[in-house]
Amino acid sequence: MPDDASAPPELLGVHQLVVQYGHVIALRGIDLRVCQGQLVALVGANGAGKSSLLMALSGLAPIQQGHIHYRGTEITRWPTHRRVHHGLVQVAEGRAILKTLSVEDNLRLGSYTQQFGCDLQETYQRFPILKKRARQLAGNLSGGEQQQLAIGRALLAKPRLLMLDEPSMGLAPLIIQEIFAIIHDVHQQGMTILLVEQNVRQALKLADHAYVLETGGITLQGAAQELMDHPGVLAAYLGA
Ligand SMILES: Nc1ncnc2c1ncn2[C@@H]1O[C@H](COP(=O)(O)OP(=O)(O)O)[C@@H](O)[C@H]1O
Ligand SMILES: [Mg+2]
Repeated sequence: MPDDASAPPELLGVHQLVVQYGHVIALRGIDLRVCQGQLVALVGANGAGKSSLLMALSGLAPIQQGHIHYRGTEITRWPTHRRVHHGLVQVAEGRAILKTLSVEDNLRLGSYTQQFGCDLQETYQRFPILKKRARQLAGNLSGGEQQQLAIGRALLAKPRLLMLDEPSMGLAPLIIQEIFAIIHDVHQQGMTILLVEQNVRQALKLADHAYVLETGGITLQGAAQELMDHPGVLAAYLGA
């Protein structure tokens, strides 16, 4: 996409990023950008390298080459906590909630601010089910409720860029609709989001811009609306 004066500023820029685990190359030099206020989808099959990208962005995957810029600063070698502190917050695949803690204690862990009580009320407004289940063990929540808890906790960390790794994974279709509605809502309220999904149709519906990742390389990118009609995407991901 060409730069122009009206385009929102870049929040995240990934340049020729290579991630390698021993002999396994998970990302083979990828370029990607997320601009302020966008919802960018990264779609692709199992094993394509989607989680590896989010982990690299969080400082949790071995970066062999390339650069990550965030808010105009190179952060390629920053430790994870510093990235989180600056607003790069991930909801990891599988949700990673603490099942033996209560819902409210899980939320407490997400908060870095002094105003937890006030933020908590906001969280409960957005996720009424979490208020209802505040004292229950997180492990007793349904899959959809756990995903809401994971997203609610991430929002308490006050992200500037919210990264979601397959939030629809393992959920029933109706619950998936609920989760996507929440993501849509959070984005509408101004959050910049990088959404990783295998649920390509749903992700493209929500996204402004999208990237298709195949075996560690970006094979297609463009406006999400346009990718939905792209013959390669239709054939490979949308069952057409
Ligand atoms: N911690 C790891 N150690 C070794 N190989 C890994 C590790 N994590 C992922 N991989 C490999 O990297 C490739 C990309 O995996 P991943 O990023 O999890 O893809 P996706 O999230 O798209 O399913 C796969 O071949 C996977 O087996
Ligand atoms: Mg993954």
